[in-house]
Amino acid sequence: MRCQKEVKTMRIDRFISSQKPELSRSDVKKLVRDGHVTLNGKPVKNAQQQANEDDDVRVNGERIIYREHIYIMLNKPQGYICSTSDNDGESVLKLVPSELRRPGLFPAGRLDKDTEGFVLITDDGELAHKMLAPSHHVPKTYQVTLERPFDESYIKLFAEGITIDGGEKCLPAEVTPDVSDCHKCTLILHEGKYHQVKRMFISVGNKVTFLRRIRIGNLQIDENLPLGGCLEILHKDVDKFLF
Ligand code: URA
Repeated sequence: MRCQKEVKTMRIDRFISSQKPELSRSDVKKLVRDGHVTLNGKPVKNAQQQANEDDDVRVNGERIIYREHIYIMLNKPQGYICSTSDNDGESVLKLVPSELRRPGLFPAGRLDKDTEGFVLITDDGELAHKMLAPSHHVPKTYQVTLERPFDESYIKLFAEGITIDGGEKCLPAEVTPDVSDCHKCTLILHEGKYHQVKRMFISVGNKVTFLRRIRIGNLQIDENLPLGGCLEILHKDVDKFLF
């Protein structure tokens, strides 16, 4: 059975201001009054006019595409915290450029302050909830640098599900040594315990000196994205988080 897409309809001032946070509803009303807004090619006379998400809405000729939610790939640098507030340090939200900003943005999941790499920033609470739910086991892939050389014994220990300090049992995880550097490996986790990667390596007598997340679910970080850079994730790629 095919599902019929539900098309959202709303007032045109709401349509525009929801997609352009820099424009308040009263700014949009003024733009309408001054004749700068068109709907399907015709000037809009009243800000209460209804538009739906498939309509061609333009402000000064620029098409405003309606997206209910936004999904942003951030290449997190060290020194930022995955939080919506700056209470314990600078929030990763500071790195989101103005054109991608919206009310309600938050980082879906946490990386430590000294961890780099892929953080999803979104305003879609439902997706984040599913992604972070322990039952979904969304895999996360990390590049790890270790203080001491990688030991082959880690492969079996992690695959069996290692017990970390405090007696917490981890789910089976896949670790692969780097063939060109004995201090490096790639680790895939299917859960997200507090400081999990660091604690797993402490449990086997080693220490993580550098950590970078490169993949969430089936979505790989864009290797051309500079540290601190943000990229909007296309809607067709959003399914890759939960596949
Ligand atoms: N595991 C850690 O130890 N730190 C992170 O930032 C992510 C996973």
